[in-house]
Amino acid sequence: MTIKIIGTGSAVPEQVVTNDDLAKIVDTNDEWIRTRTGIEERRIASAGSGTSHMATEAAKKALAQAGISAKDLDIIIFATSTPDCCFPSGACEVQAAIGADKAVAFDISAACSGFIFALHTVHSFFKAGIYQTGLVIGADTLSKIIDWQDRSTCVLFGDGAGAAVVRAEEHGTLHMTMGSDGSKASALACTARTTDSFLTGKKPELGYMTMDGQEVFKFAVKTVPEAIRTVLSEGGTHIDEIKYFVLHQANYRIFESIAKRLKISMEKFPTNLERFGNTSGATIPILLDEMNREGKLERGDKIVLAGFGAGLTWGATLLEW
Ligand code: ACO
Repeated sequence: MTIKIIGTGSAVPEQVVTNDDLAKIVDTNDEWIRTRTGIEERRIASAGSGTSHMATEAAKKALAQAGISAKDLDIIIFATSTPDCCFPSGACEVQAAIGADKAVAFDISAACSGFIFALHTVHSFFKAGIYQTGLVIGADTLSKIIDWQDRSTCVLFGDGAGAAVVRAEEHGTLHMTMGSDGSKASALACTARTTDSFLTGKKPELGYMTMDGQEVFKFAVKTVPEAIRTVLSEGGTHIDEIKYFVLHQANYRIFESIAKRLKISMEKFPTNLERFGNTSGATIPILLDEMNREGKLERGDKIVLAGFGAGLTWGATLLEW
């Protein structure tokens, strides 16, 4: 049993924030950001249009392209680290907004690997014969957990959402791998509310994202090629058969290092981080949607998706478009 992606959609906020704009609030400059990361600008959400709003827009576009009604969905899995509410889940908010009355809906948290983890989870339900049609969403509003005084992180991220409608398919190619290493959690973290209450006499506080950039860089360039090799080997697929490697959009230099390790041309690594920065769980589905709408993907193409992020977590999928 495999998965077929039958529709994609994406949504990003209208507000563009350039590197020059950021240079007005922290000690940075366009040249540093471009050369170290490849990012030129990003989109930042405004009040009232948060994670679930963007996710709903992306979901509607994906459903329209798939040509099915929300009422046909059996399951909605929403990958996010920055939901609008602790509860209800973002998935339940989207379910209500699109009218997917029949679907079971829940969120998962795997940071930038979230879309891959959600896709694999839906596949497990398909494989078990429980559901046949699903909606997988990756959406994040990282702007609300970024310390806008911290130049080492605030230049990297943006907000956005991507979605894919998927259907269980008897035939085709699908191989997947996932991993987690909680012992390296401190490399990339953001605390939720602290455990304060009437007992401590303090109001719970919220944390901001912290990151050891070099640790994350080393982790990504080691783990992602290994994960890609694993799915290729399990699929009995030669690397040259892959049309595109759709990677989590974190840093252009990470792509260059991975391409070099795998001995493949950078032309096989589509990017859009120049325009959107790192939108965490949303990067892969936003890029997939752009490629799909630009006609870059044809039925039968083999592609690899790969994500990595906080947890630490990572995952890769070999699939046939
Ligand atoms: N502008 C100007 N200077 C800066 C900036 C900035 N925005 N940020 C840091 N610097 C300075 C540092 O203070 C340091 O100065 P110093 O030498 O005087 O101490 C210098 O630049 C070099 O800093 P490094 O941290 O060593 O820079 P590095 O070359 O490692 O690049 C970067 C930093 C871009 C963050 C890189 O480590 C990286 O991309 N890591 C991966 C991060 C990542 O991908 N995170 C997200 C993945 S997971 C997820 O998506 C949630």
